Amino acid sequence: MVPKHNNGSRPAVIEAKGLTRELPLGKVVIHALCGVDLCIHAGEMVGVVGPSGSGKSTLLGLIGGLDSPTHGTIAIDGVDITHMSENQLAEIRNQKIGFVFQFFNLIPSLTAEENVALPIQFASHPPFKPMARARELLDMLGLADRRRHRPTELSGGEQQRVAIARALANNPPILLADEPSGNLDTAAGEMVISAFRTIRDEIGTTIVVVTHEHHIAEQMDRVLTLVDGRIVDAQGQPARSGVLC
Ligand SMILES: Nc1ncnc2c1ncn2[C@@H]1O[C@H](COP(=O)(O)OP(=O)(O)O)[C@@H](O)[C@H]1O
Ligand SMILES: [Mg+2]
Repeated sequence: MVPKHNNGSRPAVIEAKGLTRELPLGKVVIHALCGVDLCIHAGEMVGVVGPSGSGKSTLLGLIGGLDSPTHGTIAIDGVDITHMSENQLAEIRNQKIGFVFQFFNLIPSLTAEENVALPIQFASHPPFKPMARARELLDMLGLADRRRHRPTELSGGEQQRVAIARALANNPPILLADEPSGNLDTAAGEMVISAFRTIRDEIGTTIVVVTHEHHIAEQMDRVLTLVDGRIVDAQGQPARSGVLC
């Protein structure tokens, strides 16, 4: 059995206040994210939409500890990561976050199950038997009969599901996906979203998915819309209510 996160009281798993990321670019400053407040609870599946350049990837990078804010605060699983050092952030990423990107980045010489097992083999205190865990996750995502295949022998949708299984290998409470279906056809994209739903239902993982595809956003519990680095409501006005913890 894949162990389930305990979401009994639905605590806040991602909490941001006034989250701001400014990037110096020559003599100008790019305002990639401008004072975002948000609260995402355990087991929620949240979509992030918005035009290109609106700050979606910047937000995901700050949630995932790949980057630090210039102002504001960000807490992950109850831990304030705002001012953490690079080493501390690396530890948070290892323990708390699974990342999925548009490109699958699987290791071509390894089979599906070996790709999924790899992060467990690299963990300082492996929480699972690597190959048994890999098989469990691949089974859960409908890839039982693909586990001995190498990436080139798999379709794009299958490769992305292997990448998702790999992101879950060490059982992080949070899964972050940046345009996970951006490189897939519609049917394969649907299977990826259905995989996220399975994961949320079976394991209780909190999932944040950046997408520009409306049919994908519609399948989320909740959708946050970013415009020019700010969360806006359906009328395009700055949204404040309902996003704080
Ligand atoms: N490393 C960077 N250097 C300079 N500008 C950046 C960098 N990363 C992002 N930006 C800028 O910040 C803004 C938000 O980018 P991003 O978060 O990638 O948007 P999205 O993912 O919504 O397309 C854009 O104007 C982008 O050009
Ligand atoms: Mg982006």
